[in-house]
Amino acid sequence: MEKITSLAKRRGFVFQSSEIYGGQNGAWDYGPMGIELKNRIAQTWWKEMTQLHDDIVGLDAAILMHPRTWEASGHVENFTDPLVDCKKCKARFRADQIPEENLAAKKCPECGGELTDTRKFNLMFKTHIGPAEDSASIIYLRPETAQGIYVNYKNIIQSNRMKIPFGIAQIGKAFRNEIVTKNFIFRTCEFEQMEMQFFVKPGTDEEWFGEWRKRRWAYYEKLGVKMDHLRWHQHGPGELAHYAKDAYDIEYLFPMGWRELEGVHNRSDYDLTRHTQFSGKDLQYIDQDSSAERYIPYIIETSAGLTRNVLMILCDAYDEEQVADKGNDDDWRTVLRFHPSLAPVTVAVLPLMKKDGLAELAQDIRKELKEDFATDYDQGGAIGRRYRRQDEAGTPFCVTIDYESKDNGSVTLRFRDSMEQVRVNRAELAARLRKEIKEYKRDLNVRVVRG
Ligand code: GAP
Repeated sequence: MEKITSLAKRRGFVFQSSEIYGGQNGAWDYGPMGIELKNRIAQTWWKEMTQLHDDIVGLDAAILMHPRTWEASGHVENFTDPLVDCKKCKARFRADQIPEENLAAKKCPECGGELTDTRKFNLMFKTHIGPAEDSASIIYLRPETAQGIYVNYKNIIQSNRMKIPFGIAQIGKAFRNEIVTKNFIFRTCEFEQMEMQFFVKPGTDEEWFGEWRKRRWAYYEKLGVKMDHLRWHQHGPGELAHYAKDAYDIEYLFPMGWRELEGVHNRSDYDLTRHTQFSGKDLQYIDQDSSAERYIPYIIETSAGLTRNVLMILCDAYDEEQVADKGNDDDWRTVLRFHPSLAPVTVAVLPLMKKDGLAELAQDIRKELKEDFATDYDQGGAIGRRYRRQDEAGTPFCVTIDYESKDNGSVTLRFRDSMEQVRVNRAELAARLRKEIKEYKRDLNVRVVRG
């Protein structure tokens, strides 16, 4: 994880928030490469969920919601972590994350000092709206995007004439006052979620739950993620969230071990029943195709962390490969093997030399490619070193302009993963790149990590 954190900073993926003031715990800033990667992950998920599903539409609800929302959702009462403090060293722990024997003996796992009693700590950030800071002005930063979907479900049925089964997708910020925020961007206080709520007829929920589990697994397969680094974890009775009838996590093998990446939840009719009770509005669905039958739909939720997906994609793409050419056994390159559709830069244009009109020609070719691809341009230093720089940034293709390019209009296309180089006509370059992106298949056998 240290290597990934340091690469992320060095190459402008992720910076510590407010670094010049010593940093802000639980918050991170996405630099020029990071925002591109995050946006592409979000776009890929959005396309998968909306464009490729006729029965799913999008939404962008506000972060600030009526405070009653969070009473109805159960978050005011139940969205808590158990917290203990050490009276001696003042360390703070989640009671469910320290050894049971320490908890039973009230003994600090770090210094052996006495622990306080366990108390419940609500994870929602509270603030005030308006000039008065009293109990009537309390408002919360949303801890999940899901509730914005539930309170809009009737609006969307009416405005977009949706029929059950159908889904609503949303990407947006969520906030949680997390007690433990380590492991880089894995668990943060400010993060982004990509959530989809699928509304189904009661009795069909288990079938849809199975279906969405299959679809979400297939999504990661399509992204080219190492599938042996993914597994399912079903929540036991003690783990289930207050709203869940059944829940499975997709876990990824991060450098610190297996951790949750995404949750697929059968939320039953819990949320819409509670919003009916708290708002006094009738949230039943009227099935016009079935003699106006009325019911509260069940909800199958797929909930992925966008920022956690960024970390997963960085970890999954990270490779150190022994190049070992020309008898030099200790020649290694660091390479991020992003899927080309996720890479922050798709193609880098590199003139072999600055002189003799090569730089101008390269700029001209870049200008042409820019319309369709995210490009970079680099004319400084030896070509081998420039390739390595692009490898480390995860750029899947480099186009090199040399003297032959001037003579016959051909360029060298170099592939990040295989380091193979082919000659392509300038006129065919864009089409060739499009084909390579579409047909890209990651070769997982090339992976060699330095011990
Ligand atoms: N609406 C359901 C829900 O929010 P969750 O399991 O609490 O369920 C869903 O969160 C996903 O959101 C997680 O699988 C994870 O990817 C992401 N997530 C949750 N808390 C996070 C945090 N503090 N920092 C980063 N990502 C987080």
